[in-house]
Amino acid sequence: MILITGLNGEMGSALVQKLNELGKNNIIGLDIKPIKESLKPLVTKHYVGDIKDKNLIKKIFTDNKLNEVYHLAAILSTKAEASPFLSHQINVDGFLNLLAEIENYNSLVKFFFASSIAVYHLDENKNIEISENEFCNPSNMYGCNKLYCEKIGSYFSKYSKNMNNLDFRSIRFSGIISAQTLPVGGTSDYAPEMIHSAIRNKNYTCFVNSESCIPFMIMPDAIEGIIKLMGTDKSRLKHDVYHIQSFSPTVEMIYQKLKLNFPKFKLNYDINKRRQFLINSWPNKLNQSAAVKDWDWSPKFDFDKSFDEYLIPIITDYYAEKK
Ligand code: SER
Repeated sequence: MILITGLNGEMGSALVQKLNELGKNNIIGLDIKPIKESLKPLVTKHYVGDIKDKNLIKKIFTDNKLNEVYHLAAILSTKAEASPFLSHQINVDGFLNLLAEIENYNSLVKFFFASSIAVYHLDENKNIEISENEFCNPSNMYGCNKLYCEKIGSYFSKYSKNMNNLDFRSIRFSGIISAQTLPVGGTSDYAPEMIHSAIRNKNYTCFVNSESCIPFMIMPDAIEGIIKLMGTDKSRLKHDVYHIQSFSPTVEMIYQKLKLNFPKFKLNYDINKRRQFLINSWPNKLNQSAAVKDWDWSPKFDFDKSFDEYLIPIITDYYAEKK
């Protein structure tokens, strides 16, 4: 059986869809909120509850024979800054609750952990391609949580006597843009919010400045990345943690692209200092050679293709159907 935590979230909703398309239909979902109607046919069972609830996690592992876990439940970076202790409880203690149950299992569990480029902190020159082991000194709570979980995931899978049944794999995601959903509580949210607004013929007030730049990708590529990493023979994987991206647009580049398609779209600014600080501290561009070499990572959508073949047509249809 496969467990997806954070099933209702942006990534959970897209991943469960993809796994079903691939013929995997033995999926269990966990989410703090009741499962979305549209996802019900895609799971065999779902639990409503808190990742912090040890008893619930124990029950899920006892009632089901799990051999794959996709751990996506988390609170994102902006929300984590507002509630750092809660962030630690959800993002770290929740993760440990899962590992503690894997320790009690005697069969192999392949574990996917969604990490983030929030683990990086760059002070000045963001214009360099960084690799996974550089600049790992996060200056935000979410990044601290994610980096620590990566480390203990690796530790338990490699060095702990009791957990050689843990196969730990992780991707540090950059900003993700979905045509179907909007993120909640993240700092990269300005891009999906701006794009969805423009396509709905609404103006947008951006909370970071026009030069702001971090790596992004669209949701189908992010999901493809997870599937590829999880499907790769362990002997090929030289690392437990990889970072990936597709393109690195500034806010201005996104605006210009939207202007071409929606000439009436207006972008205003109301800078949020803390969110700007986070974006300034994250890299512009990632050196992805490890992911390319070890598991053939190759995003299908560049900047233009993402807008022209995915975001604009699908978001347009989505809101037209809702009218
Ligand atoms: N998208 C995440 C956030 O903004 C970073 O990976 O919190």
